[in-house]
Amino acid sequence: MIFEQLFDTKSSTYTYIISSGKGREALIIDPVIENTEEYIKILKNLDLKLVKVIDTHIHADHITGMNELSKITNSVKIMGEQSKSEVIDIRVKDGEKIKIEDIELTSMYTPGHTDCSYSFLMNDRVFTGDTLLINGTGRTDFQSGSSYDAYNSLFNILLKLPGKTLVYPAHDYNKKKCSTIDDEKNNNPRLQVSSKEEYAEIMNNLKLAYPKMIDVAVPANIKGLTIEQVKND
Ligand code: FE2
Repeated sequence: MIFEQLFDTKSSTYTYIISSGKGREALIIDPVIENTEEYIKILKNLDLKLVKVIDTHIHADHITGMNELSKITNSVKIMGEQSKSEVIDIRVKDGEKIKIEDIELTSMYTPGHTDCSYSFLMNDRVFTGDTLLINGTGRTDFQSGSSYDAYNSLFNILLKLPGKTLVYPAHDYNKKKCSTIDDEKNNNPRLQVSSKEEYAEIMNNLKLAYPKMIDVAVPANIKGLTIEQVKND
């Protein structure tokens, strides 16, 4: 298997390029628009053909690279069915399979950070978007977020996965690349709660700053802008 974890320094976003390596098909999860050329270069170097682009949710801190990449490579754009994006090709529901050659991802509807947040399970690992971060969890105070939904997604869905499952989030702000479900269950400070009310209490008192990019990124991601369109917008 080919598995590339790439980091966008501006938004601290992790992007994943995955291929079985047997054929030459690849998929990418959560690309960032400014890094499009880098992704194309990596795909070319690895002799891969991008066929699917997945966003875990509508991002508020960066503009997705999905539209630009799809335009260049003709790849299919995939998000969950609750996404407000106007340019998605395939909208998956909870429990659907996304396949390329020998690779299979199962979609898991994990709302809370946003109402369109999905995680994607692939054998020994899960891509958790901003639902579950390493030592943290996604904020729930924008984009139809809900701390009660997040509690359910965390405790009744993601933490029910086998403890050794590798956790690959959409962001990390401390240079941590990967964790496991067990590590998060035991050490993530946000998850040391005994009720959804206690979790909501923590999330409602984080006093986080207004997200810098949200007023630009969310509309751009809903409309599916490319680099040219962002420049001219
Ligand atoms: Fe997010």
